[in-house]
Amino acid sequence: MTIRSQYRVRKAVIPAAGFGTRMFPATKAVKKEFLPIIDRDGRAKPIILAIVEEALSAGIEEVGIVVQNGDRTFFEDFFKTPPSPEFFQKLSRPNQEYSKYLQDLGQKVTILTQDIQEGFGHAVFCAKEWANNEPFLLLLGDHIYSSQTEISCARQLLDIYSQVQQSVIGLRVTQAEVIHHYGCGAGVWQEQDSILSVTQLYEKPNIEYARQHLSVEGMAEDLFLTMFGMYVLDSKIFDYLAEHINGNFRERGEFQLTSCLDKLRQSEGMTGYVVKGRCFDTGLPEVYRQTLIDFAISGGAIG
Ligand code: G1P
Repeated sequence: MTIRSQYRVRKAVIPAAGFGTRMFPATKAVKKEFLPIIDRDGRAKPIILAIVEEALSAGIEEVGIVVQNGDRTFFEDFFKTPPSPEFFQKLSRPNQEYSKYLQDLGQKVTILTQDIQEGFGHAVFCAKEWANNEPFLLLLGDHIYSSQTEISCARQLLDIYSQVQQSVIGLRVTQAEVIHHYGCGAGVWQEQDSILSVTQLYEKPNIEYARQHLSVEGMAEDLFLTMFGMYVLDSKIFDYLAEHINGNFRERGEFQLTSCLDKLRQSEGMTGYVVKGRCFDTGLPEVYRQTLIDFAISGGAIG
């Protein structure tokens, strides 16, 4: 493997194996990854498709989606099975074209399973064999993204990865009042307000902890850096996840990703990148409502 190709990222992992408890009872009828959004072209599509498209348009070749065992058929059906001939005939010409595009896209998707729901870190670990020692792009299954430049959010992150040649965490600037919902990062700017040499990652801190340990020089008081929901990770992350899983080291009852990211940072170094764009959460009713409005009129990246 040449130095060049070593930092080329071909695969993306999307964990989509949660129950979607915060979107109940909608999630009793439909998996939260299949809830619809309207894209900038006015097309109604499931959230998971927008995420897969974000990855593929950034140059990713294969996407692994981690799902619950019992949900495999839903995902296989959507990505692998064409509509019935009767349904297809009734579609408008543009939608027939889109349906063919969807078939091609589906060939790049592999459905992976998580047998028991043991947390975000555990879901990522379920992609270990499939990732096959390659670095990978990790995208959350309930976030969609919109770039503020002509370069998509995922592409921005992949570009930084090939530049710094170590794992990269997408970050965004967040007000103190809400950081207890998010993973938080601190560090030293390599490029002011853009590229950070990460010195700590901490999951869902309270304000006191954040003020004491997670302030970043040059940022206004009570503004912090939290996870954007997009990461480019060295495959060594699986070693730390395995360590936690084999040692039954749980946090809030589950196997978390962030503490393993922090171990990866300690051993390999890690870069934070403030993404030029917005991420939209779709996993909470209020935020989903706003996402439906804002996403359609936001940004406009072309991969
Ligand atoms: C997860 C991550 C957290 C991140 C968040 C983004 O938390 O663990 O670090 O900030 O997604 O929304 P969850 O929302 O699954 O609790």
